Amino acid sequence: MEDHKIFKQRVKAIYAMLLGVFALFIVTAFTVIYLISNPDVFEKSKPEAEDLEIIEEEDYDKIENGIHVRTGLVEAEGLMAVVNNCTNCHSAKLVTQNRMNKERWISTIRWMQETQNLWDLGTNENIIVDYLVANYPPAKKGRREVLKDIGWYVLKE
Ligand code: HEC
Repeated sequence: MEDHKIFKQRVKAIYAMLLGVFALFIVTAFTVIYLISNPDVFEKSKPEAEDLEIIEEEDYDKIENGIHVRTGLVEAEGLMAVVNNCTNCHSAKLVTQNRMNKERWISTIRWMQETQNLWDLGTNENIIVDYLVANYPPAKKGRREVLKDIGWYVLKE
């Protein structure tokens, strides 16, 4: 009878120990999984996602030295109409690298509308064309402009 009791106690003790080890294993496993899925738990200095968004929004349409940084377009009247309508399908470089007169800017827009699914620009069209002509006109010719307001010397004998 005594032996039986001792045996029972031992079984209980081993059982309790195994349960403890198992519990410890579970806790460790969950901690590891948690840390793997949240690698920056310990980096408290990192700004929150919301802060990051605010910073990005502030810089999104930043102008530096008269240039809209995100697109490289010149800051001038109509800039945002161009940014919003002309940088969706291709890089703004395609715009800034081109220099055309009013007629050719309009026909480029018509061509994109007819063949590239460019939408009707509505009242923005005039704003956009004015912006393009003002800031991306045909490149100047190589020859210098005619001189004006020149003071002439009267030549003596
Ligand atoms: C719906 C899409 C779309 C929009 C929006 C769009 N374009 Fe384009 N554009 C194109 C495609 C496509 C091309 C051809 C690209 C290529 O050749 O790789 C193109 C080409 C161009 C070219 C080069 C034309 C040439 O002869 O090489 C210029 C300049 C241009 N676009 C200016 C603009 C301007 C200005 C706007 C705003 C009014 C604008 N794009 C808006 C689709 C678009």
